[in-house]
Formats: sequence, structure tokens, C-alpha cells
Amino acid sequence: MTADRHSDELNRRNSAFDNRLRPTDFDGFVGQEKIRDRLMLAVKAAKDRGEPLDHVLFSGPPGLGKTTLSYILGEAMGVSVKTTSGPVITKPGDLAGLLTSLEPGDIVFIDEIHRMAKTVEEYLYSAMEDYAIDIMLDQGPNARSVRLDLPRFTLVGATTRIGLIASPLRARFGLVNRLSYYEPPELAEIVRRSAAKLGVEIDDDGAAEIARRSRGTPRIANNLLRRVRDYAQVKAGNFITGEVARASLGLLEIDPHGLDEMDRRILETICAKFGGGPVGLSTIAVSVGEEPDTIEEAYEPFLIMEGYLERTPKGRVATAQAWRLLGLEPVSRQPEFEL
Ligand SMILES: Nc1ncnc2c1ncn2[C@@H]1O[C@H](COP(=O)(O)OP(=O)(O)OP(=O)(O)O)[C@@H](O)[C@H]1O
Ligand SMILES: [Mg+2]
Repeated sequence: MTADRHSDELNRRNSAFDNRLRPTDFDGFVGQEKIRDRLMLAVKAAKDRGEPLDHVLFSGPPGLGKTTLSYILGEAMGVSVKTTSGPVITKPGDLAGLLTSLEPGDIVFIDEIHRMAKTVEEYLYSAMEDYAIDIMLDQGPNARSVRLDLPRFTLVGATTRIGLIASPLRARFGLVNRLSYYEPPELAEIVRRSAAKLGVEIDDDGAAEIARRSRGTPRIANNLLRRVRDYAQVKAGNFITGEVARASLGLLEIDPHGLDEMDRRILETICAKFGGGPVGLSTIAVSVGEEPDTIEEAYEPFLIMEGYLERTPKGRVATAQAWRLLGLEPVSRQPEFEL
């Protein structure tokens, strides 16, 4: 692993803006109550016993707080967090180097853990379970393995693609947490807190307006807030009201329902090309040029939650609400026979 590639990867994922607004403790983290409670309990229990925290896995669509929670865990446990990501660890030696450099109790955060090479993943199993790693030296007749003992550490993994995590890996995490989209009131609360950090005033109407267009996602809420703040600063005395938010988001052509371009393409494909469905996931994927797993894990949950899409045994079906959104007339489908 080269240091450059490593930091490029991190920069791409943790923009400075993300970091500035990232809550650093559980009190600052809004929503996901069950997960928060479960983690707070686990932290307290581990600290009372003087042991490291169990291994933790976070899954869920981008921008919902997986990285944020990983750092919060480090703060709460009072340990350092060493960060890396799946594609960066290409050889068992990379993993061994990382794990042997830890202090007892430290957290290793592996982002995009589903992208880790299979050959490395197997070494991780014994590291997680036995705190040891067997490294092969040499090849052929001279081949021998040495066992490296590791300090007891906590692995925190994050993935947007839980379906790609092999079950032996998944089973080694004591705490498996699937983050879900946020409700508008939670997003509005996040927007209010971020506005305070950025030093811009906002009223409830302004926060609600931004929340509604954020696709259930805190990162999007913060990004929209940043744009609205520019507008408010230049045109509205640094105060974000509902009207200011609507005017600036309208200017930026942000979808009032919070859908992004891929959300729309998926719905358009189902309605315009396949008469509203049912149509299979892989057919949709080919039509929109995206991986089926990504559609299933990053896009569909939001479209289903918002009532645009249904999953049926025969495939995906667009709802009346989806047709209305696209301004299209529903194609009437043959009524199906009940057997
Ligand atoms: N529950 C929350 N409360 C307040 N802010 C949040 C919350 N969740 C996320 N955020 C904000 O959203 C930003 C994005 O979150 P984060 O980077 O943790 O997402 P992620 O799940 O790791 O996304 P990715 O899959 O793209 O890595 C953070 O910088 C933080 O400011
Ligand atoms: Mg992240």
C-alpha cells in the first residue's frame, strides 16, 4: 500500500466539509436510536470490564453516518482509530503491518470492507478471532509460516454493500448494525445543528425545507445547507427562512422530492420502457448501467420507503405515485388471474 493511494482514498470519502460537521460524540449524533443505544451500552460494558469493544460492522447507503459512528466509538472508548479501506489492503503483509502497529484496545476502521481481496480476508478471520496472524514466508520447499501475535483490537468495518460480505466474515462481528434513511424531522435537526456550527441562522421552516429534499441522507442535507448558506449570505442577510431555502434550491434545480438522477432513471426505465413492470432487477440494472447490488442496496430502499416502487415476486413495479412524479399516464396492465 502506498501512502499516497491511501490518503487519496480517504480524501475522496471524507471531504473537509464532512469532517467539519461530523459529530464527535453520541450526543451530537441524531437519529438511529436503536443503533446508538446498542453501541452506548456495548461501550459502557466494555469499559467497565476493561476490555476492548467487540468487533462492529456498519452497513447502509452512503452518507448515513457509518464513518461518523466509527470515530464516535473511538472517542467514547478513548482509543485511537486507525483508518484504512478495503481496496487499499491488497496483500496479507499490508494487513499484518497495520495490525501489528496497534496499541491494545485500538480501533481499526476498514471502510468499504466488501472490496477487500479474498486472499486478505482469510487472514482477517484469525486476526479477529484469535488475535494472531499466520504469515507464509518463502515459497516451495522453503515455505514456512510464522505466527504473529497481535494486541487485542477492535475491528470496525463499514460497507454500502452488505450482500457482498461473506458470511464467515459477517459472523465474526459481535455488533452488526444496518443504518436506515433518516426521517425529515431528524434531518431538520441535523440541519439546525450544522447551521449553528457554520454560523448561519436558520428558522424551522428553512430547516424543514432543506430536510425534505435531502433523500433521507445527512450528507446531502449538509451539502444542500452549504449551498443555501451561500445564497443567504449574498441575498438574505445570512438568515435562512423557508422562502430563502426554496428560492435557492429552486435556483439550483434541486428536486423537491429529494430524488437524485439515478432514482429518476430507475423509475423512468420501469415506467417508460417496461410499462411500469413487473421487471427484474438485472434488466433494470442493464438499462440504467449500474450494478444490480448497488441498485438493490443504495437506491431501492429509498424509492420503496417513499412509495415510488414495490418489490413483488415477479419483479419491480412502479406505483401510481411514480407515474405521477414523471408526469406520465400509467399503462393499464392486464389484470392477473387469481389461482
Ligand atoms: N446521525 C447524524 N447526525 C448528524 N450528522 C450526521 C449523522 N450522520 C451523518 N452525519 C453527517 O453526514 C456526513 C456523512 O456521514 P458519514 O461520512 O459518516 O457517512 P458514511 O455512512 O460513512 O458514508 P459513505 O458510505 O459514503 O462512506 C458526516 O460528515 C456528518 O456530518
Ligand atoms: Mg464513510
